[in-house]
Order: sequence, then C-alpha cells, then structure tokens
Amino acid sequence: MKTEKGVKRVMKNEIGAIVLAAGKGTRMKSELPKVIHEVGGFPLVAYPLFALKELDSQISPYLVLGFGKEKVEECLSFINREYLPKAIVTVLQKNQNGTGDAVRLAMEKIQKRGEHFSEVLILNGDVPLIDKSDLRKLINYHKEKKSLVTVLGTRLKNPGKLGRLVKDSKENLIKITEYEDASEEVRRILEVNGGIYCIDFEFLSSSIHQLQSKNRQKEFYLTDLVEIASKKRRGAAQALCIQESLKLKGVNDRVEKSVADRALRIKKAWKLMEAGVDLLSPSESWIDWKVEIGKDTRIWPDAVILGETAIGSGCEIQNGVRIESSKISDGVVIKQGTVIEGSVVWENAVLGPYAHLRPETEIGKGAKVGNFVEMKKTKFGAGAKASHLSYLGDAEVGEETNIGCGFITCNYTARREKHQTKIGKNVFLGSDCQAIAPVTIEDNSIVASGTTITRNVKEGDLAISRTKQENKSGYAKRYLPKKKKS
Ligand code: UD1
Ligand code: CA
Repeated sequence: MKTEKGVKRVMKNEIGAIVLAAGKGTRMKSELPKVIHEVGGFPLVAYPLFALKELDSQISPYLVLGFGKEKVEECLSFINREYLPKAIVTVLQKNQNGTGDAVRLAMEKIQKRGEHFSEVLILNGDVPLIDKSDLRKLINYHKEKKSLVTVLGTRLKNPGKLGRLVKDSKENLIKITEYEDASEEVRRILEVNGGIYCIDFEFLSSSIHQLQSKNRQKEFYLTDLVEIASKKRRGAAQALCIQESLKLKGVNDRVEKSVADRALRIKKAWKLMEAGVDLLSPSESWIDWKVEIGKDTRIWPDAVILGETAIGSGCEIQNGVRIESSKISDGVVIKQGTVIEGSVVWENAVLGPYAHLRPETEIGKGAKVGNFVEMKKTKFGAGAKASHLSYLGDAEVGEETNIGCGFITCNYTARREKHQTKIGKNVFLGSDCQAIAPVTIEDNSIVASGTTITRNVKEGDLAISRTKQENKSGYAKRYLPKKKKS
C-alpha cells in the first residue's frame, strides 16, 4: 500500500472519505478479520475503495484498521493499484470501541495532517455492493437538502438487526436506533441504516467528540450523530432510501457473505452482457468482479473466471473451464475442462478439452494444445501443436513445431533441480518421446517415435534411439491361453 506521505493538501470544496474496517467481525466465526473475507474474488474492504476510486480518481480515503491490520494491508497489497485510490491513509484503531470511535480517530488524523473538506463520505467496510452511482446520489441529496448528516438507507421486509431510521412526520430523520437498544415499537420500523453516510465536515469535526457510549453495547455509535444534528436544527439529518435494498447488503456472517457474493456475480454478469459478452447461462457463471471480457465472446455454463483475467473478443469458453489471472487474446477457443493459471494465450489458439496451463506459460498465435496436455513455464510458439497427452515444463517450443502424442520433458532431476528443454522451429517430434533436460533440439529436425533424447539435436538432423526390433516366428502361441477342446 502507498503510504500517506504522497497525499497533497486538499482544498476545502473537495470531498473526503473514511472507510471503517477495524472490526473483528465476530459473527463470521473466523480467525481472520471479517473485511478480508472475499466476495466476487476480492476482500470485502476492497469494494468501498473501488467505489471511491471510481467516484473520484483524486480521492485519498482514510482507512480505519484494527483487528488483523497487517493481514488487511497484505490483502490490499495484492490488488492491482489501478483499481484502488491513488493513496490510502491508514488509521489505527487499537480497541474496537465502535464506529463512532473509529471515525473520531480518523478525524484526528485528518486534522493532524491539516486536511480540510467540504463533506466527508463515511463507508462501512462490509457493504460491498455499493457503487459510485449510489455515492453520487447520496452527495447530491445531501447538498440539495442542505443537511448536516445524510444517511443512505433502504426499506426491508425483514429489517433484522440493522439500525432503524426514526423519522418525524415530515420525513426528517430524528435519530438512528440500534436494534439492541430499540423498543419493540422501534423495531417494527422497516426503514434501516445502510452504513453509508455523507456528513458536513465542520459538523463532523465539532460533534464527533460529543458521542457517548451509554448504550447496551457500550460502544461509541457513529449513528448517534444523527440525533445531535437533528437537535441542532430541524431537517439537518436526512435519509435517502434507495429501492434496490441488495445494494446495501452488509456482510456480518457467512450466510450474508454468500448472498452478497451471489449478488455481485449476478451484477457482474449483467454488466458483461450489456457490454456484448454472450453469457449463455449468467446464473451458472462464476466471474470475479474485475475480470474483463470482450464482445461476442461466448461463455458456456459453469465456466469459472477468476482474479484479474482479461479475455479478448470473439472467444469461446466452454463448460467447466477455469481461468485464473491470465490474459487471453481475441478468437481463442478454450474447450471443456481446461484449466489456465497465470498464463498468456495469444490470438486464435485452441486449447483443450482438458488441457492444463500452469503459471508462466505463453501460447503463441494459432497454436494448438489438445487433450491432457500439461504445460508449465513454457513458451509455445505460434502455430505449434501438442495435440494429445504431453507434459512440457521449463520448455521453449518454436513456431510450427509438432509435438507428438505422449512427449514428455524430463525437467526435474533426482537432485530436485529443474532444467530447460529448447525445441526449435518447425521440428517434428514423433509420438512417445522424452527429452532429458537440459537439452536442445534445433530447427527443422525430426525426432523419431519412441526416442529418448539425451543429447542435443542439430538443425536438420533426424534423431532416433530405439532397440532394434526382432520378430520371433510363431512364438505367440507359447504365451496365449490354450484353446479349450469342445
Ligand atoms: C452498523 C450501524 C447500523 C447499520 C449497519 C449497516 C453503527 C453503530 N451501526 O451496524 O446502524 O444498520 O452498520 O450495515 O454504526 N468498525 C470499526 N471499528 C469499530 C466497530 C466497527 O472500524 O470499533 C467497522 C467494522 O469493521 C465494519 C463497520 O465498521 O466494517 C460496521 O461495523 P459493524 O460492527 O458491522 O456494525 P453493524 O452492527 O453492522
Ligand atoms: Ca455490519
């Protein structure tokens, strides 16, 4: 993660942001901090940061961390910097004394750094479906209503344990009452707090110290700012209730995590289809949030596409394919059951069924990698073919070379060392051969079927290593079962 040093002094009319992610998340029943549990292929805490980056590329949010701080930072460090705000200022909350306490610590850091904003967006770190359009709506509503605190909320049939929005007859927000502290009557309110706020900076600076922890949970509730604002002036606290309640789905336990994950993946599938991707069964696809896919690429059910994978246009991805953090160019066909990890595949290559590309493999244009072919750290040239049952590890294969069925690079020694196999251009490697690495087979050569290559093969040569065949006349009947007399 970038440190705070690079953050410039922010002008007053800019919006600041605080993301709250210090909690343990007891309800997850996990050793890990809640916000690193993944939905859509990224840790929960990444999503408010993605939304802020999309809202404003200049924003430098304050991220409050506490429980498992190092683990959270480590998880964030694995994410492509381009997806995240250009700087993130971390704030340490040693003891998780509540959301109000977390914001107070962030405000102290803001003040210490001499930063000043017009408003501050505050986002709970466990609400992953929020996006920039919701944040934009919230800011606009806040400005339009000239409020001090504006809360993003929604109406739910089963509001569960979420904070209830208590309003007056004119729809002004009076206070938010946490479930634990609410009377039966208040618990019957269906409008709830989504945990996303826009707050006037001056108001926040002056009121954050007024919070008290006189409640059932003995915590400082950020939500108590609503009552402080509404007492200052009527209408100073407002709620913007959005209809798509799923967008405010908080993740507190494993069940809610699975609901949010599913919702994110459906949202992703919709976005891809709108962009021209042919998802044959969107509800049966499993595509991570940041995957990119080009137009007219057809994706069959049960394809799993993970991490920061980018797939070009006009590709065919059949059922049961798994692609992780790889780059696939235009027009590539990936047949059933193929697994691709950390690899690059260039235009019009055909892979599978049941091929396996392990990390650092590169498949050239128009190359063919067929059934039960495994490659690892291999550069496979344009137009080259390995159509059946082969293993290529730590290898280089030139253009238009044909690798026969059952070829194996013996790259790993008894001393546990790995060695390279270099195969040139336009080589014909017959079936059932092995190359004992390190070894080089030069361009335009032939290796006869059944050969074990132990020495380099020069350009244009034919290599053959076989024991001579002997046919023993009539011997078969000695070994075959005797025919029964009838
Ligand atoms: C909070 C709201 C509730 C709202 C709900 C929406 C409060 C008091 N309540 O409840 O009104 O309906 O979100 O999802 O704010 N955190 C810290 N430090 C702490 C405590 C929490 O950083 O000391 C972080 C957590 O990591 C989490 C977020 O704040 O990302 C919300 O905390 P959580 O305990 O999940 O609050 P809820 O009980 O869900
Ligand atoms: Ca929560």
